[in-house]
Amino acid sequence: MNIAVIGLQWGDEGKGKVVDYLAKDFDIDVRFQGGANAGHTVRVGEKELIFHQIPCGILNKDITGVIGAGCVFDPSVFFEELNNLKKVDPTIEERIKISQFCHLVMPYHIMIDRIREETQQGIGTTKKGIGVAYEDKYGRIGLRVGDMFNPERFEKLLKHNLSRKNLILMEIYRAEPLSDNEIIHQFREYADRLRPMVIDDTAFLSRAIKEKKNIIFEGAQGTLLDINFGTYPYVTSSHTIAGGANIGVGIGPLYIDKVIGVVKAYTTRVGRGPFPSEDDSCLGEDLRKMGKEFGATTGRPRRCGPFDAGVVRYAARLNGVEEIFLTKLDVLSGLDKIKIGVAYNNKKDFDPFLAEELNPIYNEIPGFKEDISMIRDFNDLPEQARNYIKLIEHHTNLQVNFISVGPNRDAVIKK
Ligand code: GDP
Ligand code: IMO
Ligand code: MG
Repeated sequence: MNIAVIGLQWGDEGKGKVVDYLAKDFDIDVRFQGGANAGHTVRVGEKELIFHQIPCGILNKDITGVIGAGCVFDPSVFFEELNNLKKVDPTIEERIKISQFCHLVMPYHIMIDRIREETQQGIGTTKKGIGVAYEDKYGRIGLRVGDMFNPERFEKLLKHNLSRKNLILMEIYRAEPLSDNEIIHQFREYADRLRPMVIDDTAFLSRAIKEKKNIIFEGAQGTLLDINFGTYPYVTSSHTIAGGANIGVGIGPLYIDKVIGVVKAYTTRVGRGPFPSEDDSCLGEDLRKMGKEFGATTGRPRRCGPFDAGVVRYAARLNGVEEIFLTKLDVLSGLDKIKIGVAYNNKKDFDPFLAEELNPIYNEIPGFKEDISMIRDFNDLPEQARNYIKLIEHHTNLQVNFISVGPNRDAVIKK
């Protein structure tokens, strides 16, 4: 069985925790879009690991991790991540494959992303060069992982690109130009180390499918950050929805058997852009504190607010999701009342074009006081917590099949 795990809000739903938990039943974990903008957290015992580009199911010993063609790949972030992970499990390097088709995130992409964010009306990106790298990809001038193994071609493409990027840096942004020799030298070193890991992911995965291997597709970001269907322009530059998995690795659309939506028990967002259920009073502050809502990649405080069923219904539709893995329910413990947005003042359904004007209409139910983080049986949950889950199911028309009640691997209730 092949499944995709997709965030149904604005990212940081807990996909890392969920993929690590589910991955024990899979042979291959594939990232298919995005890059080092992702921060997927996995907690095993006292250890907290944050994955940016490496698929986080890799902590399961028998899994192969694939960084698929739809990703943009930054070798410097990758090696830093890999070196840290190898301290936990030295076999990880042998189990990671990188698509030859991935576009490279180059130093000038990062520089331009940073300068744009700092000097213009930025959208609050992670400053990892993601948008600028995808611009070059779709502008058909990008450098790919596979190009690194043809030094002459790489050098020619790089020089061509850099001469133009340096003009932009100097003339528009009044910044220092970058040296092509330094970049060429640096990428030659990367190429040597990357060579054994680079594959044609389309061939690798189609063979795996024929051999009846089980594949988990690990979505990054969230549906509301999707380049087509998110709150544009306050989105990321890739296809974060389940359909992105097919185009992101080059397998047929019929090979994904199920899509699991990861949903936080409340809502968060990092960076700018509309967020109808945002609460900038006490509740938002409490959620940020109790949920430790600070970016895994940038450390930025996350904007917080109640659960918005309209957003999740919209996202579920775009992904063909029927079941939810609900995360961070434990964070709500201690609230007198729990609110859930069920519709909007002027509309029943979420509409990204109207997102700035949507004011949620809330239903409110009594909260629960108990610490639920040690509970593993659904029937042991306080009645108010079970009622809240029922309310979510009712207003999203989705089934909650798993409930996460803590950051650790075992803190899961199977319903
Ligand atoms: P991702 O980007 O979707 O993988 O999510 P992040 O890792 O950026 O953010 C989720 C945060 O919540 C991480 O710090 C996780 O360790 C933590 N987390 C995940 N699930 C739970 C949960 O059920 N309860 C609590 N308290 N924390 C959780
Ligand atoms: P994970 O996978 C939350 C947001 C940024 C910004 C917008 C564009 O951990 O859920 P980008 O750097 O991609 O050009 O930034 O997207 N963003 C995320 N928000 N979680 C993420 O990843 C994100 N990746 C990007 O904050 O608003
Ligand atoms: Mg994250």
